[in-house]
Amino acid sequence: MTRWLVTGGAGFIGSNFVRLLLRERPDATVVNLDALTYAGNLENLRDVEQDLRYRFVRGDIADPLAWEAAALQGGGFDVLVHFAAETHVDRSIGDPFPFLRTNVLGTQAMLDFARRNGIARFVQVGTDEVYGTLGPDEPSFRTDSPILPNSPYAASKASADLLVRAAARTHGLEAVITRCSNNYGPFQFPEKFLPLMITNAMSDQSLPVYGDGMQVRDWLHVDDHNRAILAAAERGRPGGVYNIGGHDGERPNLVLLKELLAILGKPESLIRHVEDRKGHDRRYSIDASVARAELGWAPQVRLEDGLRATVEWYKSNEGWWRRVKSGAYREYYETMYSGRLRDAEGRR
Ligand code: NAD
Ligand code: TYD
Repeated sequence: MTRWLVTGGAGFIGSNFVRLLLRERPDATVVNLDALTYAGNLENLRDVEQDLRYRFVRGDIADPLAWEAAALQGGGFDVLVHFAAETHVDRSIGDPFPFLRTNVLGTQAMLDFARRNGIARFVQVGTDEVYGTLGPDEPSFRTDSPILPNSPYAASKASADLLVRAAARTHGLEAVITRCSNNYGPFQFPEKFLPLMITNAMSDQSLPVYGDGMQVRDWLHVDDHNRAILAAAERGRPGGVYNIGGHDGERPNLVLLKELLAILGKPESLIRHVEDRKGHDRRYSIDASVARAELGWAPQVRLEDGLRATVEWYKSNEGWWRRVKSGAYREYYETMYSGRLRDAEGRR
């Protein structure tokens, strides 16, 4: 049996990871420690909440009471996969402080928790945004590319990666760092580009494209990302850094959006060019050769197929995204969980 602690498992990537783990590793038990910020949604995990191998603990990673609650639920852990973060670049430009608290102090707190509790493996789920931006003809980000973050979000994630490196060097913590490109797929919060565009287009609302829309992102399906995280947790070299991405997903935003509208059967006249994001990174591109060679990982989902499947998912799960957009999803925890489970403050 392998005992997993996942932080931020009620968010987009974390919830898909919990589902993948329970499906692919029958001997796994999972505790999901999540503060349920605006981005956390337990409806994302409705289909696994009755699984006896799964436990949810509400708590802030920077709060020692939350660690105790998680430790009580898990009875010890073998692996910690650290997803919990503030993740939206635009919000980080508006107010960086929650990003510093969760992404920097919270990561240090989880590193200390792992060390004190003898957790054998620590996976830091990082981002390619720590490398900054690329010109159109520059080679893709390698794991030894300079760390040059441009947004407060990226700077906070870069700081977290450096703290993970320091814990590995100083204390011998068996940590690995993954740095992934932009993810897409089911359960993504509709403030991010693709779910915002899909749900707005489905409602015939305008589609706000920042600046000229020629910023390039390297899109990867969330399941491909999560398969890489699982491989890194199980087979990653201690101290290893793995870039994840670099399949067939590199596209300017406007090109991707037009592909999406063709799939949805919606008109391009919905597109509105709006003021550009401050300090907007122009291009991300991933060289994943280290992950391919050392982890034996390779992406499986072509962007065209993944986009179609994702559109289908949002069409079939309109109730999910409408509850997110209206704010009704916030009630799910209260009605379904708070009566039954102890949260980090010990409340039932
Ligand atoms: P998300 O915003 O959808 O979810 C974040 C989750 O973390 C939420 O459930 C939230 O409640 C929880 N959380 C936030 N602050 C917390 C705290 N203080 N204590 C406990 N839980 C807290 O994020 P996501 O898109 O799923 O991203 C997950 C991770 O993957 C992040 O670390 C992010 O930096 C990284 N990443 C994301 C992408 C992407 O394209 N989305 C790409 C590369 C890396
Ligand atoms: P986003 O999903 O916020 O991810 P990131 O900033 O981490 O790459 O944005 C993806 C791209 O889409 C990015 O270049 C910004 C752009 N974008 C828009 O043009 N309009 C929008 O409304 C949003 C949210 C993003």
